[in-house]
Amino acid sequence: MCGIIGYTGKGKAAQIMLDALELLEYRGYDSAGIALLNQGHTQILKSAGRVKDLRKLYAGQKPDGQCGIGHTRWATHGGVCDKNAHPHRFGRITLIHNGIIENYRELIEKYHLQGKLESETDTEVVAAVVERFYTGDPYSALRRTVLKLKGTFALAVLFDDQPDKIFAVRNVSPIVAAVTDGGAMLSSDVAAIVPYTQDYFVVPEFHVVSLSPEGIELFDLSGDREEIEWMKADWDVGKSGKEGYPFYMEKEIMEQPDAVRETILPRIRNGKPDFSQEGIPDEMFVDCKRICVIACGTAMHAGLVGKSLIQAMIGIHVDVVMASEFMYNDPVVDKETLVIAISQSGETIDTLEALKFARKCGSPSISIVNVKGASIARASEYVVYTNAGPEIAVASTKAYTTQLAVLYLLTARMAMARNLWDEKKLTGYMQELSRVPEVMEQVLKTKEEIHRLAGVILNAKDVFMIGRGLDYSILLEGSLKLKEVSYIHSEAYASGELKHGTIALITEDTPVIAVVTQDKLKSKELSNIREVQSRGARVLLLIKENEALEEGQEWSCVYRLPKMEDSFMVMPASVVLQLIAYYVSLDKGLDVDKPRNLAKVVTVE
Ligand code: AGP
Repeated sequence: MCGIIGYTGKGKAAQIMLDALELLEYRGYDSAGIALLNQGHTQILKSAGRVKDLRKLYAGQKPDGQCGIGHTRWATHGGVCDKNAHPHRFGRITLIHNGIIENYRELIEKYHLQGKLESETDTEVVAAVVERFYTGDPYSALRRTVLKLKGTFALAVLFDDQPDKIFAVRNVSPIVAAVTDGGAMLSSDVAAIVPYTQDYFVVPEFHVVSLSPEGIELFDLSGDREEIEWMKADWDVGKSGKEGYPFYMEKEIMEQPDAVRETILPRIRNGKPDFSQEGIPDEMFVDCKRICVIACGTAMHAGLVGKSLIQAMIGIHVDVVMASEFMYNDPVVDKETLVIAISQSGETIDTLEALKFARKCGSPSISIVNVKGASIARASEYVVYTNAGPEIAVASTKAYTTQLAVLYLLTARMAMARNLWDEKKLTGYMQELSRVPEVMEQVLKTKEEIHRLAGVILNAKDVFMIGRGLDYSILLEGSLKLKEVSYIHSEAYASGELKHGTIALITEDTPVIAVVTQDKLKSKELSNIREVQSRGARVLLLIKENEALEEGQEWSCVYRLPKMEDSFMVMPASVVLQLIAYYVSLDKGLDVDKPRNLAKVVTVE
């Protein structure tokens, strides 16, 4: 999970790459560096720290050049320090890398590199291997090198004696490339390219691509030229900036009503869910006997909501499995198990590998992905793209609610395909789904009130979040949001389970966030809340507007949610929890968009 960029053309490569690295920095921000190839001489600027630190380094030297590569790092092999920052150089080769080379120690032995390396990284070893195979033909050197590598890689390479040219090759880790006005670019993802062009292509795995001011050439490993399959980024170029918000996270939270509209409206025809643009046959929904959702983090939490919806409304069993655990727990998936892989980036390797495993077991598959053409989208039989636009903040918000929007649509389509709902039920459900954006807007209008609520937990050390059923699923996501952007330890707990041990941790003034949105669970949830209140907890309650509360129950505060059908209450409740996490982080003065230790795309297992 690093960010790579390359540029060659008429422009000032350093400036273009520094701007691009800022758009890629969410992929990793331990260190950053650029290399410029200018008249046979390669100059490298790199340091631990952020892109802004690299800019200072650049300002002091201003190396010239119209061809270069750049990198933002999330450390895997070797600590965070200047010498481990990319680009790495060995002999005539300068190289950047996103991924993990599993056999780098064997390569050090095999090519007697002991004592010849400056860094602790696997990347420098790859540069040394390319140097070893380079006899004047970059394609041949790269072909021979990648055949020696085990693991995942997106490599961008400069050869001293190949002026104005950048070469690249990948396996699993993403690379997209594009021709721009007077040049060519490559990047880990399209966010860095859309400011220059919306036409791009995904570099196929184990193909060598070369970029020059004249354009792009693509070859397979046997050296045969291949046609390029161009795509169009449907992202508004403006969407790549903060547009006046202090952090991308706030902007992306505010964008959710439109993101949900853009996701559901193209898939509603005559008031009914329609996946004809994705080409998904109804047989996929009729033939499956059970469903297995594989995903990580927030995407997995979306899957938990999907489980509740589908089990309640369709009556088939749904498993939701952490992708990183999936293959190691003897999963029972087969041709009767519909696998749904959910991923914002479409590059999470845990999810990608689990999906590939499931497909080998014969499972039909659908992925829900936000980035067009991403690896997970291409690895599944069918893909439903969320139309959330670029999500830059590491903490996922609009991707989550648009994933939910797709799951609501899939549930309705499944009900239609299985003839489970009459016209009235389907119409009512779809009308409620269509109301989601405006209800989210109602919540967003109260963001100052929510900011005040956030103050209740600003200085907390531990925060518990309790709820049952769908409310518990909502809080798992709310807890992750709070942890990852505010660094406050938080634990979402099924409130009925609390008394079986964890309630021992509830003491005077322990902050507890409780969500009560499901009528069928309300009385039990309120009595569980009384259990923690009787032990001194300060409870922040999220509950539907107009819901009666008993006299005498002490609340540190109550937030009244706009009312929807119970199964849709996830949407307004999630927005409140997202904003609470955001404001706590903001008021703690943290870097909300780039929390410590995290990266937006996790391409290591
Ligand atoms: C979300 O806030 C987290 N940053 C993280 O859990 C993320 O959801 C997870 O890594 C999965 O990413 P993906 O959706 O791109 O696969």
